[in-house]
Amino acid sequence: MRSIGSMHVVPFAHPQGCRGYLVADRASKEALALDVHLDFVHDMAERVKAEAWKIRYVVDTHTHADHPSGAGGFAARFTCTRMAHPEAHHAGVTVHPKDGERIALGSLGITVRHAPGHTPDHMVLIADGALFSGDSLFIGGVARTDFLGGDAGLLFDSIHAFLAALPGETVLFPGHDYQSRIESTLAKERSENPWLQISNRDEFVQKLTANPPPRPANMEVLLRLNRAGVDIPATLSAAAAARFVAAGGASSVIDVRTGAEFESEHIPGSHLMPVDLVEARADEVRAVPAPRLLLCQSGNRASMAKKAMEKLHVAGLSVIVGGLAAYVKAGGDTANGRARISLERQVRIAAGGLSLLGVLMGYFIHPAFLILSGFVGAGLIFAGITDWCGMGTLLGKMPWNQLHAAQGVPSAGGTCAASLPGACAAGGSPSGGCAAAPAPETGDDQQRQTRR
Ligand SMILES: [Fe+2]
Repeated sequence: MRSIGSMHVVPFAHPQGCRGYLVADRASKEALALDVHLDFVHDMAERVKAEAWKIRYVVDTHTHADHPSGAGGFAARFTCTRMAHPEAHHAGVTVHPKDGERIALGSLGITVRHAPGHTPDHMVLIADGALFSGDSLFIGGVARTDFLGGDAGLLFDSIHAFLAALPGETVLFPGHDYQSRIESTLAKERSENPWLQISNRDEFVQKLTANPPPRPANMEVLLRLNRAGVDIPATLSAAAAARFVAAGGASSVIDVRTGAEFESEHIPGSHLMPVDLVEARADEVRAVPAPRLLLCQSGNRASMAKKAMEKLHVAGLSVIVGGLAAYVKAGGDTANGRARISLERQVRIAAGGLSLLGVLMGYFIHPAFLILSGFVGAGLIFAGITDWCGMGTLLGKMPWNQLHAAQGVPSAGGTCAASLPGACAAGGSPSGGCAAAPAPETGDDQQRQTRR
């Protein structure tokens, strides 16, 4: 927790590079939550309870195109008011502050400034020595402006307005960062941020709009979710999943089967994450762009993976009903490799084989071997009741079920790392988030910076 002037600031960092904040007045303990990613809801709520803060507002700096907002879910946990810019048109938002309006947390005054550029509905918060810049000015970068009505010239104006109005020691808390940086100061950015070295507006616009990065993954779906305020469904039909993938959503599919099953047939662009590894690699799951679709052969393992992830408060998960079999039946595209027997079929074969072996050995050798058949039968009943199959888990670890070629979920660093262009920034992360754009050329050196 950071204490600045009369307030406390608790930053929350997401593997996708998103940043959210709790801001509290030290004296009154009144607080607001800013840019609540859906995956932040639980941790932010727990922190509020631990600090005994009274949440007054939940604020989105703009319409997020790269991640699902958790503002609605967070607001539902507390008696508080949702706030966004008048042009945001978010369901459930009841307060739309005007430029320059002040909101109060106890004796702490926070000024809301309209800061268009990244989007027309973008606003920043200025409070007691801190600037919460959302997707405008980043640490070492600026936001991208190539979608949702963004305007590079207006971004230039907004950023230079901050610089002119606020002292250099003002602490900068950005809406994204891909290098695990939490804060900076305006003075530091003024001297080190390559985008702030460009004093000519036209030059800034030209450089910012050249070579726009890929759009955020699932952007249209996320915009609908964030504007309409609906939840990501717990399950998705195979037909809907096929349409989602056909529309470019393959990078959101997490395949929880074994490596060998994946190698045999998989959705091109999907991520392999065997069900027994999802808990240990939860941050890699978080780095997958939401909505995240969980896939297995028939749906059972995907449901198990969802339960495991939800225990770790990973949100935005949907199980593809009927698994890969139903997905293929619905016309979904797959890539085929070496044919393998699915894990479900391996379990059936192994259970049937052991049962038969027990009966034969009990008849021909000694009746005590019938215990083997009884044990297998009891195991199948247990698996049916608990939805956990020990034989399947064991078989999944066998060498023939491992993937030969290295493949899986890309690391968070590789997806949203600072040297790569991001999505909401002027550039774009490979996942198409909200940040990152190429930094302007400085002499012969053409660097790349993260922007959103
Ligand atoms: Fe954004």
